[in-house]
Amino acid sequence: MEYTIALVRGDGIGPEIVDGAVRVLEAVGARFGHSFHFPSYLAGGCAIDATGAPLPEETVQGCLDSDSVLLGAVGGPKWDTLPANLRPEKALLGLRKALGLYTNLRPAKIYDALRGESTLRPDIAARGFDLVIVRELTGGIYYGERGRREGKYGPEAYDTEAYSVMEIERIARVAFETARKRRKNLVSIDKANVLETSRLWRETVHRIAAEYPDVECSDMLVDNAAMQLVRDPSRFDVVLTSNMFGDILSDEASQITGSIGLLPSASLGDGTRGMYEPIHGSAPDIAGQNRANPLATILSAAMLLRYSLGLSEEADCVEAAVDAVLREGCRTADLVHGGERALSCTEMTEAVLAKI
Ligand code: IPM
Ligand code: MG
Repeated sequence: MEYTIALVRGDGIGPEIVDGAVRVLEAVGARFGHSFHFPSYLAGGCAIDATGAPLPEETVQGCLDSDSVLLGAVGGPKWDTLPANLRPEKALLGLRKALGLYTNLRPAKIYDALRGESTLRPDIAARGFDLVIVRELTGGIYYGERGRREGKYGPEAYDTEAYSVMEIERIARVAFETARKRRKNLVSIDKANVLETSRLWRETVHRIAAEYPDVECSDMLVDNAAMQLVRDPSRFDVVLTSNMFGDILSDEASQITGSIGLLPSASLGDGTRGMYEPIHGSAPDIAGQNRANPLATILSAAMLLRYSLGLSEEADCVEAAVDAVLREGCRTADLVHGGERALSCTEMTEAVLAKI
């Protein structure tokens, strides 16, 4: 089969890690008989530099015309002082919205070979964990009305969180369907003791839960969830969250796996087109040095194969390759200590390629 995958390399380490994932996809194509076309588009800081805007229309159109999108990372200190509508992050939020990607799947599991890297106490890490955060991605406070105004005590700023029943229902269904294919346990995160959006969230999730009697569903306040995630992550299977709570909890989940350089994500809508990216950022401090860990992006490419192209055998092959190189002791700089030798980004990519 032939597929078109739009590449949005972005800024910082984005180009290096995307190139690693492209090499892996090409190897998968060669082994399984697929051909991939990889048109490239600008977004983020590099787009600001080249065109003056973080998300050129051509990028949106190119992504819409592709089977799927593979994204590196956007942003960096160079563009941090620009006004809000010109920031690189605007590109990410704009793409998610333009492509209708309201679901963000962020799996986090501990690899046997990396238990020692986890920031968890060894007896807790030894229990293992394998969870997926189902994060709402195109609503909530990220997209609500915001601004500056004159308040009672002088100038103030405000951001608003709004969620419609429709937005909560559709993400809740995705979470329940996901739970059905896993261990059939769902924890819905909110702050219903304070926020009205959370009370609507909880009410709506309970209503949808009635359609899934086979899935065990419970609620948890977000502050408690942040604590339980480091106290005993093995208790979680599917975690359903709003946009901002999911952003925060997924960074926390990444660190207990050992490195943020390992966590992939898939952003999905109603169709099969999705956007796949590592959950980490552009890491400007190590950009251009061939030191980044490409595994989160390679694992994102595996999710792309599975969710957008329906190629699950190919996805399994990539995930098994990553598992194998970690078991053999391949480590990039984020995973080595003291005098241990770290593989470069290209060396790690080549180690994975050798297993495809
Ligand atoms: C993420 C990132 C983005 C987000 C930023 C870069 C806008 O932190 O994907 O987790 O907050 O969604
Ligand atoms: Mg984040």
